[in-house]
Amino acid sequence: MKKIVFLMVAGSLLATACSDKKRKPSIVYMPDMYYATAYDPYEKATFGYPDYAESSDVPVFQRNHNMSALEPVEGSVPHNDGGILPWTLPNNNAGYEQSKSVTSPLNPANKEVDHKRGELLYKQNCSVCHGANGDGQGSIVKSKAYSGVPTFAERNITVGSVYHVIMYGKNAMGSYASHLTPVDRWRVAEYVMSLKNAGNDQAAPAETPTANVEPADSTASK
Ligand code: HEC
Repeated sequence: MKKIVFLMVAGSLLATACSDKKRKPSIVYMPDMYYATAYDPYEKATFGYPDYAESSDVPVFQRNHNMSALEPVEGSVPHNDGGILPWTLPNNNAGYEQSKSVTSPLNPANKEVDHKRGELLYKQNCSVCHGANGDGQGSIVKSKAYSGVPTFAERNITVGSVYHVIMYGKNAMGSYASHLTPVDRWRVAEYVMSLKNAGNDQAAPAETPTANVEPADSTASK
């Protein structure tokens, strides 16, 4: 009995007391279950076992030079405020003519807010040349430092063509694409059209107040 007790004590001392050997990590059977492979966005993605480097390419990343960051799906476009799609018409005469039939994507329900914002941005970016009411008599035109600015009333413009001109500029007028976000360009374009239409009202001032689409003079004066 004494022997057995002695052996047990000695045995437990042996088992607990010694040595560095215990600190060696034990074998991990399935490392990928404990240690997830972390990928940096533009790093070459592998399965993370250098020993098997030859076959470590991750199939889903192979078609993109093994980068773990995948390219956007073909045909996808960047998101922006207002969800405005990219302007695809080219910067040439054909593009300009086509732009005339493009309508504004802005939601008419937000008209008041859009109009206010359009007015603010027009005053900040455009009125120095075009004048606060679109008559082409902005302050730098009046000062004679700059000329050749048309009135909106005299131009055959639509909301789409105004957007096009903001995008690319036209002759002496430069592009304002870098000043205005896509949704703001539409707001300014709508504001320009409201100035043009207000100008038309003034051009035909004291005509019949009840006229709808057919002007009264088409029957009355001739
Ligand atoms: C530096 C002066 C200047 C500024 C600022 C300016 N424009 Fe112009 N704009 C011009 C000139 C000059 C023209 C005439 C270009 C031409 O047709 O030869 C013009 C023409 C236009 C036209 C008529 C284009 C057409 O299709 O006939 C529109 C619309 C217009 N500008 C809108 C704007 C808007 C909107 C802004 C502000 C974002 C703006 N402009 C800022 C100088 C300016």
